[in-house]
Amino acid sequence: MTQVYTMFRRFLRPARRLPIWLILSISAPFIFEVLLHQRRYNVAKPASELDTPFFTSCQEPDVSAKRENAVLVMLARNYELEKANKTINSIDAHFNRWFNYPILFLNDEPWDQKFIDELNKTTRGLATFDVIPKDEWTFPKGVDVNAAKQSIKEQGEAGIPHAGEEGYHHMCRFYSGKFYTLEAMKKYRWYWRLEPDVDFTCAISYDPFVQMARHKKVYGFTIALWEVGQSCPGLFRSISEWKELMGIPDNNLWKAMVSASWVPYPFRRFLSWQSHRDSYGDSWSLCHYWSNFEIADMEFFRTRAYQDLFEYLDKKGGFYFERWGDAAVHSLAVALLVDPRKVHHFEDFGYRHAFLWQCPANAPGGQLPDSPLLGSGAWSPELENGIGCRCECDGKTNRNHPGYCLNKLKQPNSIKRPWFTWFL
Ligand SMILES: *[C@@H]1O[C@H](CO)[C@@H](O)[C@H](O)[C@H]1NC(C)=O
Ligand SMILES: *[C@@H]1O[C@H](CO)[C@@H](O)[C@H](O)[C@H]1NC(C)=O
Repeated sequence: MTQVYTMFRRFLRPARRLPIWLILSISAPFIFEVLLHQRRYNVAKPASELDTPFFTSCQEPDVSAKRENAVLVMLARNYELEKANKTINSIDAHFNRWFNYPILFLNDEPWDQKFIDELNKTTRGLATFDVIPKDEWTFPKGVDVNAAKQSIKEQGEAGIPHAGEEGYHHMCRFYSGKFYTLEAMKKYRWYWRLEPDVDFTCAISYDPFVQMARHKKVYGFTIALWEVGQSCPGLFRSISEWKELMGIPDNNLWKAMVSASWVPYPFRRFLSWQSHRDSYGDSWSLCHYWSNFEIADMEFFRTRAYQDLFEYLDKKGGFYFERWGDAAVHSLAVALLVDPRKVHHFEDFGYRHAFLWQCPANAPGGQLPDSPLLGSGAWSPELENGIGCRCECDGKTNRNHPGYCLNKLKQPNSIKRPWFTWFL
C-alpha cells in the first residue's frame, strides 16, 4: 500500500512543479476548442417567432370550407372499447362534429363485431375498421426471431417500460415505417393520430389540416418531453450514422436535439461508446415529440429519404434488441430532414393522454359566447395571454410538461449567424 502511495507521489511530483503559465498554455487550446464546439451547437433565439398558433381565440367553424385529404387514425385493440369510445366522443365534441373527417380504426387482430358496432355508432363521420396485414406487424426478414424474443424477455426483466411485450415492439416498428405505406392509408395525405384514452379539452374551432397546408407545415405536436433512455441506447448513434452516410448537414432543429460534449477533442471521441452518443461523442438530449398526438403530412413520411432511414434502422434490429419508440424515431427524423419552420406546436389545443397534458388558458374576449355552431357551454376563466377556445382545464392552465424539451425544440430557427461566427 505504501509502495503504491510512493509511486503515486512520484508520478504526481513533476505535475506539481509545472508552472501555472505552462499548465494554462497547454490547456488553453483545449478550452478554446470546447468553446468553439459548444458554439457550433448553439442555436440563437430567433428575432421573430418561427411558429405561432394558427388562431388565438375561438373561430366560427367554417363548415362549408374545403377539407383537406385527411383522416383521423386510431390503433386500438378490442378490449380497449371503452377507452376508444371515450376518445371518439371527446374529439367529436371538440372538433369533428363541425368538420366530419373520416376515422380509420386499425387493429393487428380481427375486430370484434361489438367494437365495430359501438364505435361506428359513436363516430359521426365515416368510420372504417381495418386489420393490419400480418407481415407488417411482425419481425422483419433477416432478424433472428429466437434471439429477438430472448432479448425482449430480458428487456422486460430489466424493467424497461413495455419492452417485455412483443406486440409493443411490433407496434413501434409499425408506426415508424409501415403505417405510412399501409393500403388503408394510401388514399390520404394528412393524418391525425388518436389513441384510446385521450381527452381533448378545448374547442378546436378551425380545421388544423387546412391550416397546416396553408402554412406549409409538415409535422404538428402538442407535448414534447424526454424519452425513456433505457429504451433506445443505440438509436441516436444509428440515426447519426445514417445522417453521415447521406451527408445531411445539421439544421438548427437537429442541433437543438444534441447536447454538445464538454470534453475537448480528441478525447470526446472516446465517449462515443456510451448510450445516446454519436461517433464524435456528442449526445442526444432525449427530447422528442410525444407521438400519441400527431397531425402530419404523410408526403414527408413517404419520401425516399424517410423510408430509407426507416429501412436502415430496421436492419439495425433496434426495434427488437432495444425498444426503439416511434416517437423518438419520428422526432429525430423530423429534426434531421424537416426545416424547423415546418414544425408546428398546437399550443392552443387542450390535450391529455396518460398522466401528461397541455391545457392553455382561454383567450380574453375570444370565446364567441353567441356562436351558433359552438353553442352554449361552460369553460374555464379567461386569462391574460390566454390563447385557448373554450378550454375546460380543471385549473390546469399549464402550457406543457415538462418545459425544458418544449423550449429546446421550439427555439430552433434558420436565422443567419453573426459574421464573426462564420468560420465555426
Ligand atoms: C360510447 O359512447 C356513447 C356516447 O356517444 C355511449 O352512449 C355508449 O354507451 C358508449 N359505449 C361504451 C361501450 O362505452
Ligand atoms: C356504420 O353505420 C352506418 C349507418 O348506420 C352503416 O351504413 C355502415 O355500414 C356501418 N359501418 C360499419 C363498418 O359497420
